[in-house]
Amino acid sequence: MTSYLFDAAYLIAAVLFILGLMALNSPKTARRGIFMAEIGMFMAVVGTLLRKEIVSFEWIIVGFIIGSLIGGAMAIWMPMTAMPQRIALSHSFGALAAALVGIVKYHEHAPNIDSALMAVVGFEVLLGSLTVTGSLMAFGKLQELIKGAPVVYKFQNISNIILFFGTVSLFIILIINPGLTALFYVIIAAGLLLGVLIVLPIGGADMPVVLALLNSYSGLAAAATGFAIDNKMLIIAGALDGASGFFLSMMMSKAMNRSFTNVLFGAVGSVKQNQAGEAGEKTVTSYTTEDVSYILENAQSVIIIPGYGMAVAQAQHVLQELASMLIARGTQVRYAIHPVAGRMPGHMNVLLAEANVPYDLLCEPDQINNDFPNTDVVIVVGANDVVNPAARYKKDSPLYGMPIFDADKARTIVILKRSLKAGFAGEDNELFYDKKTMMVFGDAKQSLMSLVQLLKENAPVLAN
Ligand code: TAP
Repeated sequence: MTSYLFDAAYLIAAVLFILGLMALNSPKTARRGIFMAEIGMFMAVVGTLLRKEIVSFEWIIVGFIIGSLIGGAMAIWMPMTAMPQRIALSHSFGALAAALVGIVKYHEHAPNIDSALMAVVGFEVLLGSLTVTGSLMAFGKLQELIKGAPVVYKFQNISNIILFFGTVSLFIILIINPGLTALFYVIIAAGLLLGVLIVLPIGGADMPVVLALLNSYSGLAAAATGFAIDNKMLIIAGALDGASGFFLSMMMSKAMNRSFTNVLFGAVGSVKQNQAGEAGEKTVTSYTTEDVSYILENAQSVIIIPGYGMAVAQAQHVLQELASMLIARGTQVRYAIHPVAGRMPGHMNVLLAEANVPYDLLCEPDQINNDFPNTDVVIVVGANDVVNPAARYKKDSPLYGMPIFDADKARTIVILKRSLKAGFAGEDNELFYDKKTMMVFGDAKQSLMSLVQLLKENAPVLAN
């Protein structure tokens, strides 16, 4: 009877995971998708606790309490703006668990471990250890505990590739001679080193691609754990995680115009260091929200480009209020959403959905980029890298090649940010010095609140 319940729980969990992932395809259904995946995970945990192999629940309870305390604290106290770091840490925890299970499994069977099991366990510990250090490096870079900019040196690509294939060769030798315990640990050490070396040259705008890839690796390590301990749920969930992370990183590479092979071998971002916020001799003109309100009152078309600064300022609600007021007075308003705006995939979509912005107002780059020359006003709300023209021509820039919004082609560009500082990639933005640009310095939420107030005062009837 228990075994039927166990199988049923796993089956329901697997179906919910698949449906949940499908629902994540659209912002409209994403919330439902997350909910289904949560119930799926609950069923998977219940199913696992029903397994007859469990001889004692004491350690499970201890793990449950410690894990819940850490997870709960992270969920409560980590701000939304630190979400990518939190995700990197979670990948690292998951991969550490997979690697530790692999080590235990190896010692349970060594030296008489058969080659098939050795292949699975080796894959698990190699990918697991690589993901542990890779994710910790990504965490350090995103949290600015270590240098976020790409670290590059001579022969970097070739040495990474040699280390990778050298490790794969040692892995094959271990599969043939599974009793070589020292070699098993050499492979773990090589995995740990590879994780560091792969993330070292990545920085600036390319971090999202590597985060998605590490997500995929931790999923594949979990799937291998499933094979090693004969747990179908882990195989299914790990494979889903691995495959979706892999596709996400391919899609991100495409969106960023990066070579996926380079990402795999840690060769993106191999560029000269950039100049954070260098203003040089250029001058910039600062405008007030009053100036902007006059322009907006006469605008027929407006495109809003939100970025990470909108998340920091929590300006999505007041931005939505401003957009609704403009729409009410007959202005065409759309939001341009860049795939890497913010600090996590879908970051802007989540925030704008929270503010009830209608989905049909959100446009991706290829839907809207041709419309900028015919647009009266572009409002850049705490975005920077995604509108930086250096991506088009500056070959030594970390942004070079990344598709950007052609905000500079609009008739007027309003930029709401606090200073002239560079964005995540550390590249100075010439758009700030463009004659058509109106820089409004200050917190985005405060500036937007002031604009809403001014529009209300100037056109009280329409505002109501
Ligand atoms: P960024 O280039 O990071 O620029 C954000 C800007 O927001 C900053 O220049 C900052 O300027 C401004 N800002 C911060 N707080 C503000 C506030 N309270 N009010 C107004 N402005 C504020 O953002 P982006 O254009 O969204 O580009 C995202 C970057 O992050 C890309 O390089 C991307 O590759 C990278 N990245 C993305 C992800 C994902 S998956 N989306 C993950 C990791 C990294 P001030 O300090 O002058 O105000």
